[in-house]
Amino acid sequence: MNHAAGLTTTFLLSMLMCVPMSSWAQNVSSIALDKGCYNCHGNPPRKNTPSFDQLAETLAKYRGQTKVIADLAEKLHKEHVFGGIKAHEQLSPEQALLLVTWITEGAK
Ligand code: HEC
Repeated sequence: MNHAAGLTTTFLLSMLMCVPMSSWAQNVSSIALDKGCYNCHGNPPRKNTPSFDQLAETLAKYRGQTKVIADLAEKLHKEHVFGGIKAHEQLSPEQALLLVTWITEGAK
């Protein structure tokens, strides 16, 4: 694993524990709103796009697995894996990490 990403994840997770979950999740969901994520992943989602609820279901198995989460976050904002989605690529590494963590926690 990229060492810096590991440290960031550790940092974010330790922050997580200090903040009541609901307000943390609300903060992250407002980032998702701000970044236009709901335009495609909302309810109903855009054609061929999984909704956040569906993604949360798929990613729930990675909850707490910092390495997998860091890899997913890196993939999301770095590579043109999904046909070059601007909203993904414009995320900072920290935002990508927060958002993927939030999805594994249920995306509420
Ligand atoms: C223009 C539409 C669009 C926008 C805006 C968008 N996404 Fe996506 N997203 C997609 C599509 C399409 C996929 C790929 C679905 C597939 O092929 O599995 C995807 C996949 C994902 C995945 C799954 C990655 C994986 O490894 O399987 C995550 C997580 C994700 N998006 C998060 C976000 C977040 C967070 C935002 C806001 C910053 C966002 N998306 C904004 C269309 C969008």
